[in-house]
Amino acid sequence: MSDPIYCDQAATSFPKPAAVIEAVHEALSGHSASPGRSAHRYSLSASRIVFEAREVIAELMGQEDSDRVSFGLNVTQALNTALLGFLRPGDHVLTTSMEHNSVMRPLTWLAESRRIEVEAVPVPARDPVDPREFRSRLRKNTRLAVVNHASNVTGVIAPIREIKAALDGVPLLVDAAQTAGVLSLAPVLDSADILAFTGHKSLLGPTGTGGLWVRPGLEVEPLVRGGTGSRSEREEQPGFMPDALEAGTPNTHGLAGLAAGVRWILETGLDRIRAHELDLTRRFLDGLAGMDGPTWYGPESADFRVAVVSINLAGWSPSDLALALDREFGIMTRAGLHCAPRAHRGIGTFPTGTVRFSFGWFNTAGEVDRVLAAVDELARRSV
Ligand code: ALA
Repeated sequence: MSDPIYCDQAATSFPKPAAVIEAVHEALSGHSASPGRSAHRYSLSASRIVFEAREVIAELMGQEDSDRVSFGLNVTQALNTALLGFLRPGDHVLTTSMEHNSVMRPLTWLAESRRIEVEAVPVPARDPVDPREFRSRLRKNTRLAVVNHASNVTGVIAPIREIKAALDGVPLLVDAAQTAGVLSLAPVLDSADILAFTGHKSLLGPTGTGGLWVRPGLEVEPLVRGGTGSRSEREEQPGFMPDALEAGTPNTHGLAGLAAGVRWILETGLDRIRAHELDLTRRFLDGLAGMDGPTWYGPESADFRVAVVSINLAGWSPSDLALALDREFGIMTRAGLHCAPRAHRGIGTFPTGTVRFSFGWFNTAGEVDRVLAAVDELARRSV
């Protein structure tokens, strides 16, 4: 078998730039202790790592005040923090039919246990969500809207600015799991009030890194309370960002890698990364269009999607297809429901789901051609 091809970038990016691996190694082998806890040199060098990670993330987001960025484990933790820390009993929240379980599960729990009313705006199978669908559902008690910037199932990109305009001032929480590191976040933050991100996907960092940006003036109650190294004389959690949302020793070593990933992105250029991913996506969609057998989901035009393409192949179940791609061709994909069952209901692929191909900077046109050839071969075999 020739070299393996990794097409599961939407789950976790691979490979990581060499600078990321070096930064984690340096943080582990160098002098980094607990950040923000002591004035000794090893603690200070750890504090510098966390500070620099916050600064470079803020730079990527086009924000001057890096204190509005709090770090956590991943986008799931960030979304839970935002939802549980912002919504109150009796609130109405709008979301969409394209959301991941990292949004739907906390919302379902809030609906069952805290009298939060949840309403999901339907997203058409081939188009982005229509912002007018939000306006028509606004109620007196609508307190938040939650939308992913791009779907992890179809890759469709949501019109964040237009959604915010339709919300009539209601705060907007954006799940940037699939876009941070590939689409510009600065214009998104002109509209978003809270943004959740993860470090291990397109930001090219290690797992166990992610966080939340919260607009100045807006308060999110912490999910976890504990030591912060600040205001230690008090037994209440500090109210100021980022300490309010950062209890416990952070993943300093991971944040060193995340910072290196974001620096690499800034040096490479978001526009170049996006252009490369668009080229790969167009190439893949064009190749599928020329075959008998594959059905693919989401927008016709790659311009309205990130580099995520879900397909089904006549005669194959998604799990068998993903297995054959991996075993016979070394092509790694993700099959099934992608933790987004409602999105699959919307595109008509529930309960078996799809096979999802997701590409990143380190994928090549040659790899896409090999993937297409493999899909074609398997399509012929099934009929
Ligand atoms: N949410 C990640 C995915 O879509 C893990 O695969």
